[in-house]
Amino acid sequence: MNVFKKNPPSDFTRLVHMVEDPSDLRVFSEKNYPAVIWSRQLLPDVQTWIDQIDPNLLPNSRKIVHKSAIQETLEGVFNNGIIPQSDQLDWLLKDITKLGKVFSNIMQVDFLRLRLDVVSTNSCRKFHVDAVTGRLICTYRGKGTQCGISRDENETIDIFSVPTGSPVLLSGLLDSKENGLELLHRSPPIEGTGVKRYVLVFDPIIDPENEV
Ligand SMILES: [Fe+2]
Repeated sequence: MNVFKKNPPSDFTRLVHMVEDPSDLRVFSEKNYPAVIWSRQLLPDVQTWIDQIDPNLLPNSRKIVHKSAIQETLEGVFNNGIIPQSDQLDWLLKDITKLGKVFSNIMQVDFLRLRLDVVSTNSCRKFHVDAVTGRLICTYRGKGTQCGISRDENETIDIFSVPTGSPVLLSGLLDSKENGLELLHRSPPIEGTGVKRYVLVFDPIIDPENEV
């Protein structure tokens, strides 16, 4: 999957790595890419289901979870809502669980902060780097995260969107990659469009007792 209509700019290939298999996401901790994208599309029946469901039924959640308890935590989060059971819902919970396990292994942590958000505003409109070591973002519904290359303080160039359904691993300010500040990201501007996105975020937690 090419996120550019033409050939990608050379800085893109230096900063962003696309993989086809989730086991290859480990390149995020092994090499100097500030962004690694698992290029995929959701199965059409899953994408249609999540696009058409009443967004008021989709749960917002913030929880610290152990990597071995992601699935049961999600079952609690989603059972508190009123989404009817379906194969598509089962797939979604299993997918989030898998992404959490893969990401915790890459980041070498036992605990993660799980965030699920229904987003209808320009939540992070400015291009930025987050104050974390690394972050996994997967947009299941609506436009994906926008990334761009920082040319100077005031200009971000070569802007592209992470495809909907494709998880992206992003380096943060607390990471030690020397090129970590060259790649910025933001939520896509959607305010006023009536679009509701559904976004998963995982952050690594080093010390769960110090977290609220
Ligand atoms: Fe961010």
